[in-house]
Amino acid sequence: MSFARSGGELHVDGVALARIAAAVGTPAYVYSWPDIRCRYRQVGEALAGVRHRICYAVKANSNLSVLARLASLGSGFDIVSGGELERVLRAGGEPGRVVFSGVGKSAAEIGFAIKCGIDCFNVESVAELDRIIEQAQLLGLPARVGVRVNPDVDANTHPYIATGLKDSKFGVPPALARELYRRAAASPVLDVVGVACHIGSQIADVHPFRAALAELLELFDALEDDGLTLRHLDIGGGFGVSYRDETPFDLAALGKSLAAALAGRDVELLLEPGRFLVADAGVLLTRVEYLKLAPAPGYRNFAIVDAAMNDLIRPALYQAWHDVEAVAQTGAQAQRWNIVGPVCESGDFLALDRALAIEEGDLLAIKCAGAYGFAQSSNYNSRPRAAEVLVNDDGFAVARKRETVADLMHLEALV
Ligand code: LLP
Repeated sequence: MSFARSGGELHVDGVALARIAAAVGTPAYVYSWPDIRCRYRQVGEALAGVRHRICYAVKANSNLSVLARLASLGSGFDIVSGGELERVLRAGGEPGRVVFSGVGKSAAEIGFAIKCGIDCFNVESVAELDRIIEQAQLLGLPARVGVRVNPDVDANTHPYIATGLKDSKFGVPPALARELYRRAAASPVLDVVGVACHIGSQIADVHPFRAALAELLELFDALEDDGLTLRHLDIGGGFGVSYRDETPFDLAALGKSLAAALAGRDVELLLEPGRFLVADAGVLLTRVEYLKLAPAPGYRNFAIVDAAMNDLIRPALYQAWHDVEAVAQTGAQAQRWNIVGPVCESGDFLALDRALAIEEGDLLAIKCAGAYGFAQSSNYNSRPRAAEVLVNDDGFAVARKRETVADLMHLEALV
């Protein structure tokens, strides 16, 4: 897509990554807006046969500029905290297009979301439903709700990001959901509007979505029998991307299958893609600090770079594979390298055993890092978080400045 070589040098939307590194420093996340826009449109096109709304999952990449641009395309948002709601509002997103997921919504978050007039709380437990009723009564304002169903569907993904199985903390089983709907429908402060599920992330094929939708539709029909007509069906996010050699997620097949399943029903389909919209559109740009050569057989070659597990935790946390490319092609001899950061943990690696022709001072691009990269970064080892750069057809701009060490300490006191 937008990342391509020209004259041997890696560019993004026509801008040399080396130029961005010279201006902004490293490590830096670099996102291509044209790529994100293209992915957003792909989802819309695949779902053209279905009345639908895309609610971008803010957690994947919550940079304000990314949110603002998605809002300008008409995107809705899936949030999981009051903080994410504040970001959406700051970015100009419409609260009426926001759904709120998550098992631990605090009373304050619920109250804030009700006041903002969000479209729907995806309720994840009986206790949460009671808390929403309480907050709505307290505020004297209505709240719109749906139940997040746990359909017990295997998404065939990493266990940490599978969310639709019986033993998962998310959602409630369909039979209990029906109970929750009865309770919600009986409350004068609630408006029951939808049903939701989210079965996991980085899902490779459409079958689990079909299975989940079948469960949702069965419940939808049972609720009609109970006299309750829902306005929307939320199938969640989770569409996989190709980090290495995974077959690209077949959006067209998903669109067809959802259209067929929903034919003849007057209901809006909600989708909550996060990764699919932003992963491919981002790289983590980092510079080689040191090359530490294997001194004898049995040892490893280490390329020590200025990005670390605090910047991108996916390899350490999910054994995730990210492609690594040298930004410029040099005359160096290709060798196998473990690409590691300065953090004092052996789990601090970005990529292992990669063939690369590199020298000290070279720039590397860690690919497909636009989703759950910066968003999951931390200040471990008192490392300021990386800058974020947004590239557009007409150049690049810093969308989030690099933190300083002073930023890291400003909430602390010597007590
Ligand atoms: N909706 C809900 C309720 C979610 O919990 C999630 C992600 C999404 C939508 C978006 O899923 P996506 O389309 O991005 O797959 N940090 C992990 C991924 C965690 C996903 C959590 N929930 C990673 O780096 O792989």
